[in-house]
Amino acid sequence: MQFKKEIAEAIKETLKQFKVKTDKTKIEAELKPPPAPALGDFAFPCFSLAKSFKKNPTDIAKLLRDAIRKTKNFDKIDASGPYLNFFIEKTRLAAETIKQVLKEKQKYGRGQNKIGRVMIEFPSPNTNKPLHLGHLRNMAIGESVARLLEATDNKVIRANLNNDRGVHICKSMLAYQKFGRNKKPDKKTDHFVGDYYVRFAKELEKNSKLQDETQALLVKWENGDKKTIALWKKMTAWAIDGFKETYKTFGIKHDITYFESSLYDKGRNIVNDGLKKGVFQKRADGAILIDLTKDGLDEKILLRADGTAVYITQDLYLAKLKNDKFNLDGSIYVVGSEQEYHFKVLFLILRKLGFKFAKNLKHLSYGMVMLPEGRMKSREGTVVDADDLIEEVRQLAEKELTKRYHLPTKELKSRGLKIALAAIKYHFLRPDVGKTITFNPKESISFDGNTGPYILYAYARAGSIIKKSNRRIAVLKIFSVNQEERNLINKISELPQTVLAGAREYNSAPIANYVFDLAQIFNAFYHQCPVIGSDNESLRLNLTNAFRQTLKNALYLLGIETIEEM
Ligand code: ARG
Repeated sequence: MQFKKEIAEAIKETLKQFKVKTDKTKIEAELKPPPAPALGDFAFPCFSLAKSFKKNPTDIAKLLRDAIRKTKNFDKIDASGPYLNFFIEKTRLAAETIKQVLKEKQKYGRGQNKIGRVMIEFPSPNTNKPLHLGHLRNMAIGESVARLLEATDNKVIRANLNNDRGVHICKSMLAYQKFGRNKKPDKKTDHFVGDYYVRFAKELEKNSKLQDETQALLVKWENGDKKTIALWKKMTAWAIDGFKETYKTFGIKHDITYFESSLYDKGRNIVNDGLKKGVFQKRADGAILIDLTKDGLDEKILLRADGTAVYITQDLYLAKLKNDKFNLDGSIYVVGSEQEYHFKVLFLILRKLGFKFAKNLKHLSYGMVMLPEGRMKSREGTVVDADDLIEEVRQLAEKELTKRYHLPTKELKSRGLKIALAAIKYHFLRPDVGKTITFNPKESISFDGNTGPYILYAYARAGSIIKKSNRRIAVLKIFSVNQEERNLINKISELPQTVLAGAREYNSAPIANYVFDLAQIFNAFYHQCPVIGSDNESLRLNLTNAFRQTLKNALYLLGIETIEEM
């Protein structure tokens, strides 16, 4: 923003007089709106200067105030405790902000936090059952962080890993072999596969020998037994086709997809190399492991005694593969917090093996998702299914909509889905990423709480004002700025710094909190300030437009689509 630049410039020059060197961008980043509007438009904290000045921050603030007053022409500068407060003429502030938003349009809010080429892996499911509740949080986070990084000057590569090998896959396969009788899917194909996974668990209660049979099936699979491979191909394709539908509904798309089935074998080479290098060791029974006790971790098996690969075997190779192919400056894994140990061990091993890229790896760990009591699991005892949950929330949204309007079925369905996705995504992105959360479908869909629909509603409201104005081109003329207008302008001007804060921490929560504040402040404006036909119509129409653009841009970063009417 222009004002911040001006202020930062003035502070920098003044500090120079005192022989204190600083960086303009650093000053700019420290400029924040004071806690109350009456205190000014931008506050600069003087704490960090105490050392260079050998004075307390309160005295520094006074000193700087007097020095700046002598040379620069601001509307007003105050020293308030340890802060230096700047006032900018209200109409000028309003005009600059609104003009900037309307000029930059969908680019408004973007900033610079360059890492370079960054891969984000999500949601990386197992192909033995459909996506569940946790995957919804995973996808919301993955897509949002991808967009945040894109908005701050990075090239993002969205990756997915299908864990399509192993004994868990053989469970669904075995149940289908025994009880499926070559039946074709009669429902969404990943759900069809998942039914056999559930069936396996049930049958296992009656017959514990089935466990050994899955092991035998895995050996057959690893040996390339034709019938087993054909069955595996058929069922994995069903699972993956089903996932793709859910990805599409949810609005995510991958640039590259990896398959454990084609990685695990190559991981073996890395393990053998590590053994030669002496980083790993062989146990008496033939298993290969690494001893991490000196690093405060445990011994970790990398290949079993029978030579079969474990979960981490694929990851050793995959990390290298990703980096070799894309020459990455960053590589992020969006995976639940229960795998923190796994990634700690993985990253440490890669460092010990001497891979330079190991320092660029990050586990973006998120907390578990629960449902309100009594609803933790579905009837079959499986975790709650992602598609079912989206459908449940969509129906709740439709119910809300039918209370208000008479909509053609097609419109009702499409609007219902958009509202449901906004509800779900917002609910998952608002809390800090590491927190365990409870997903309450009813609460998430409420039109007047701290929810996605509440925010979409504010957007639609603003849209109806614009519509009523006949979209007449309103030349921006500002005569005065009242408190509600000013609050809205200030909030709008905070998007760029919020985006930067989110991107730096790979955290969407600041954006989620921002959209809620923004919507609330708009609603207060909406109730207090008539727009059309008012004396200040030009400012208010333009401000409403700028609000819509700002909210749309911020929602985009959460992966949430706006709708024109609600
Ligand atoms: N498929 C695994 C699971 O569902 C997550 C994989 C995470 N990614 C990885 N590279 N290990 O638990």
